[in-house]
Amino acid sequence: MCILRAEHLYKAYQSGGERVSVLEDLCLEIERGELVAVMGAAGGGKTTLLHLLCGIDAADSGNIYIEGKALCAQSDDETALFRRKRLGMIFQDFQLLESLNVKDNILVPMILNGCESEEQEQAYERVAVPLQLKEIENRSLCEISGGQKQRVAIARAFIHDPALIFADEPTGNLDVKATGDVMEQLLLMNRKSGTSVLIVTHDPYVAAFCDRVLVLEDRKLAKRKKSDLFRADGRRNES
Ligand SMILES: Nc1ncnc2c1ncn2[C@@H]1O[C@H](COP(=O)(O)OP(=O)(O)OP(=O)(O)O)[C@@H](O)[C@H]1O
Ligand SMILES: [Mg+2]
Repeated sequence: MCILRAEHLYKAYQSGGERVSVLEDLCLEIERGELVAVMGAAGGGKTTLLHLLCGIDAADSGNIYIEGKALCAQSDDETALFRRKRLGMIFQDFQLLESLNVKDNILVPMILNGCESEEQEQAYERVAVPLQLKEIENRSLCEISGGQKQRVAIARAFIHDPALIFADEPTGNLDVKATGDVMEQLLLMNRKSGTSVLIVTHDPYVAAFCDRVLVLEDRKLAKRKKSDLFRADGRRNES
């Protein structure tokens, strides 16, 4: 089943008196349960693409359907509500709330969605147990590592059982060991829940964990064989 379909997306920004095109005739489909990486050069438009796909920003033209729903046909309020209920986000800088402890950070989407406390607790167990977060649930954010913070952000992204999660450079602030751990946890939750995940990354090691790898180049997406990842980056060839 197709969870996301983007058709013929165009996006340009106004820059110094001229329109600079970032995405042109870009098409993308993501199936239920897929873990997909989007790679590409800095400034190539990866974050722009994510912002269009989750409705934070609007394409100049083209259509985006998530679970068959046309984002472009919705009002801003409807899109914000849809994003809160059906989408999850993971960011490079975690974007957790410093004033809340680990457990309360994870519960934020359930609270925003008005879920009863029993439902909150059930959902919390579903994510905190596999991600081994219960043992640190009462800690404040200043008492946990960057890798642990990203694990909290993963739990928060999955807790309300969204259709699709967008992750923008989720390991960008982590060392290699923490990157591997975070990707294993993301993969575990993806497989367990069947939630599709789209990850933007410049790191071939991260992309190698994914089912499918796409490269954003020349304003469009192209397929990249996983066996070409390390050669293309000038690093190890793990094919
Ligand atoms: N709001 C904006 N207004 C004008 N130009 C923008 C805006 N946002 C992004 N751009 C430009 O669009 C291009 C794509 O930016 P984007 O942030 O999508 O790239 P990226 O692939 O995510 O880069 P990075 O790998 O550095 O995160 C860049 O040239 C950027 O300067
Ligand atoms: Mg970016």
